[in-house]
Amino acid sequence: MTKTVLTPDQHQQVVDQGYVVLENFKSPEELSTLRQAALQVVDGFDFSAHQHVFSTTADAAALGEYFLTSGDQVRCFLEPGAADENGQLRVDKLLSVNKLGHAMHDRIPAFRNFSSDPRLTALMHEIGVQTPHVWQSMYIFKQPQIGGEVGWHQDATYFYTEPLSVKTLWFAIDDATLENGCLWVAQTGSDSPLREVFEVIDGRPRTRQLDSAPWPDLQQAKPLEVKAGTLVCFSGTLPHYSAPNRSDKARHAYTLHVVDGQAHYPKTNWIQRGEDLPVRGFL
Ligand code: FE2
Repeated sequence: MTKTVLTPDQHQQVVDQGYVVLENFKSPEELSTLRQAALQVVDGFDFSAHQHVFSTTADAAALGEYFLTSGDQVRCFLEPGAADENGQLRVDKLLSVNKLGHAMHDRIPAFRNFSSDPRLTALMHEIGVQTPHVWQSMYIFKQPQIGGEVGWHQDATYFYTEPLSVKTLWFAIDDATLENGCLWVAQTGSDSPLREVFEVIDGRPRTRQLDSAPWPDLQQAKPLEVKAGTLVCFSGTLPHYSAPNRSDKARHAYTLHVVDGQAHYPKTNWIQRGEDLPVRGFL
């Protein structure tokens, strides 16, 4: 019999809560290789030509061309507090970047290797994704002192399919703690209406409200403090959040967003792929 990724209890947790925490999924060597590859991208990036801040508190309509055309590219986005009023970085560029996005898994060998894990295909099959399509990768730095908050949201807002199918794979590259801004998830789990959908129509981005259900507050949420190497896998309707990092420790994480190729993926989703770089599975 083929070995399964999830135990029966873990599978039941996905059914009941919409998420599962898999410790020791990646080795220290794999984490180190990915971290070095991410730092290499930042090191080689020309910040004088591209100073773009990423903030989840900004209005969707304010997202510029640089962001909206990054779906099949490798680009750097700065933390909101990274540059001074003259546009100069306050600290070293390696400590200024909010994230890399959004196609490292297709364009950079070290990221492709990390993301081409056959256990991920098996995991997707076990949780009902028949044909995994990996639409996006992000390397999130959550820098010491200036790492930004990521407000409450659901990932199906950004990867809408009919029926809903997106799953997030969130790999802890560093230990994630309350101190450095770990993930928080709604105690009620993923059985929660999709509140918003992010669409791009005629080149213009907007967020359209679908449901007025309130977001949880921290009393209705659970922090996921996890060790480096842990994989957190969760469903697209699970409300989640992470606090700013005011500590002196970075909280790097790597994420992949996967939808079922059997579901309808609308043309209004912000990430589209052309013939030159079609969306693929994990291998
Ligand atoms: Fe998210």
